[in-house]
Amino acid sequence: MTKKILLLNGPNLNLLGTREPDVYGSLTLSDIVALAQAHIRPYSAELRAEQSNHEGTLIDLLHMARIWADGVVFNPGAYTHTSIALRDAISAINLPVVEIHLSNIHARESFRHTSLIAPVCVGQISGFGWRGYLLALDALLGHLGVLPAPQL
Ligand code: DQA
Repeated sequence: MTKKILLLNGPNLNLLGTREPDVYGSLTLSDIVALAQAHIRPYSAELRAEQSNHEGTLIDLLHMARIWADGVVFNPGAYTHTSIALRDAISAINLPVVEIHLSNIHARESFRHTSLIAPVCVGQISGFGWRGYLLALDALLGHLGVLPAPQL
């Protein structure tokens, strides 16, 4: 059965490519989505990418994912550090969510060290730039049982 994944990006991530490239890299969000699509091609998985700068829209997208998706890879941007509403949405939808950040939030300003959503996610990937999205997809696909088990 094909697994359906929501790749969700929050505020300011639409500006990737020009936004603080020393922190977030030079790839655009469409570049990252294209890499993500190519990455899952060998697997029985489909990906739909969405981005919003609005907390309520992100919540609506998570609620809708409840109907169609098997899991979510989510970069909530700055809402990571502030949004109890997004955390509650993740708890409410009962889907596995992998949190991803391009930068290492733990190595930056102290206000970025806390993630309100991490406790309700399967796990967090932070600091590996665009590759983090591919790692997050692998983590989610592994969690969903799509990746082949390694042969010892
Ligand atoms: C970010 C880290 C957040 O602290 C920041 O507000 C962002 C991007 C990241 O991907 O590194 O917008 O989520």
